[in-house]
Amino acid sequence: MSWIDICGAIAAQRHSGHRVVTASIDYLQFVQPVLSGWTVNLRASVNYVGQTSMEVGVRVDAENPMTGAAFHTASAYLTFVALDEHMRPIPVPPVEPQTEVEKRRFLDAQKRRKARLILAGKVSKGRS
Ligand SMILES: CC(C)(COP(=O)(O)OP(=O)(O)OC[C@H]1O[C@@H](n2cnc3c(N)ncnc32)[C@H](O)[C@@H]1OP(=O)(O)O)[C@@H](O)C(=O)NCCC(=O)NCCS
Repeated sequence: MSWIDICGAIAAQRHSGHRVVTASIDYLQFVQPVLSGWTVNLRASVNYVGQTSMEVGVRVDAENPMTGAAFHTASAYLTFVALDEHMRPIPVPPVEPQTEVEKRRFLDAQKRRKARLILAGKVSKGRS
């Protein structure tokens, strides 16, 4: 879980050009176990940007180094907030989805953002 957080933070920092803080991890699914001695590969994508926050999806694949077989083991969605030098939230550039996959991730992330902000008590059900 720590690696997922670090990987997501790197993607968010690269996108925003600022230090970031983890605001929430709202979805973490363990699909298969990772066995001792296997190689772990983490990939992150910035799916959606609000004003100062970014949703980052992280996918974890594990590889059996003896056979080369790779498995999807976990996925998570995290929200990072970019901070200025005074540790206040600062606006970040938008994401501009190009491919069909990026467009799907963007739309799905938009829906998740609404749901998580309602859960966090940040907005009412009537607002996004
Ligand atoms: C995350 C944090 C900076 C937000 O500060 P805040 O005073 O609530 O700021 P705002 O209300 O202006 O919200 C800033 C952004 O965070 C988002 N946000 C706030 N709480 C959130 C939550 N629980 N989940 C997802 N996003 C959240 C807001 O939607 C907003 O995004 P937007 O600008 O894209 O619309 C603040 O709550 C914080 O510092 N939390 C502790 C973080 C921490 O210690 N993390 C663990 C260690 S890394």
